[in-house]
Amino acid sequence: MAKNMNEYTFLFILSILIIHSLSTFAHSKKLDEKKPCKRFVLYYHDILFNGTNAANATSAAAVNHTQLGNFNHGMLVVFDDPITKDPHLLSPPIARAQGFYFYDMKTTYNAWFSYTLIFNSTEHKGTINIMGADMMMEETRDLSVVGGTGDFFMARGIATFRTDTLQGDYYFRLEMDIKLYECY
Ligand SMILES: *[C@@H]1O[C@H](CO)[C@@H](O)[C@H](O)[C@H]1NC(C)=O
Ligand SMILES: *[C@@H]1O[C@H](CO)[C@@H](O)[C@H](O)[C@H]1NC(C)=O
Ligand SMILES: *[C@@H]1O[C@H](CO)[C@@H](O)[C@H](O)[C@H]1NC(C)=O
Ligand SMILES: *[C@@H]1O[C@H](CO)[C@@H](O)[C@H](O)[C@H]1NC(C)=O
Repeated sequence: MAKNMNEYTFLFILSILIIHSLSTFAHSKKLDEKKPCKRFVLYYHDILFNGTNAANATSAAAVNHTQLGNFNHGMLVVFDDPITKDPHLLSPPIARAQGFYFYDMKTTYNAWFSYTLIFNSTEHKGTINIMGADMMMEETRDLSVVGGTGDFFMARGIATFRTDTLQGDYYFRLEMDIKLYECY
């Protein structure tokens, strides 16, 4: 009987040691927010189609808003927007941002973004996929970089948005501070 008890105690302690070493291993993989493996800042330009600006527009409402509240709730905008390295709209684009956002709050402007940054230049080839909530009234917002291809194979990280300019309903510019924590 006493021998059995010792065996049980031994197994119990052994399993605690295993669990402890597993959690130590998990902690050793903890990421430091301040130390991305890759970081770059890009500018996103969105010119909404208003019925007359077809030559300049880069996005259009594909679904009109609902009548719920006064903040465009339900409006879905599909875009193919130029991405530049500096804030100038007419700088040569280094990528496209293709995807959509829709407004989803009744009480304030808040959108949900889902899009792909498509790089096709001599400098970079590949894609970065970004999604998340854009709480426009906040100074900065963090969206998730959920994956990538090509030069950005299996990328994961955070894209921090800051509204750089907002001109009425028809033009806005976002600064996207992209920090990758997984680079291969
Ligand atoms: C649409 O946008 C263009 C360019 O900003 C502007 O010149 C035009 O007056 C706008 N049209 C309407 C109907 O708001
Ligand atoms: C809009 O397009 C017209 C015609 O292509 C161009 O002259 C004008 O500079 C563009 N405006 C902006 C704000 O890009
Ligand atoms: C969207 O709905 C509003 C009324 O809620 C209407 O005035 C407007 O013309 C609609 N826009 C489009 C593009 O259908
Ligand atoms: C990428 O750029 C090359 C060279 O300009 C072009 O031939 C190719 O069609 C482009 N690919 C995409 C997916 O845009």
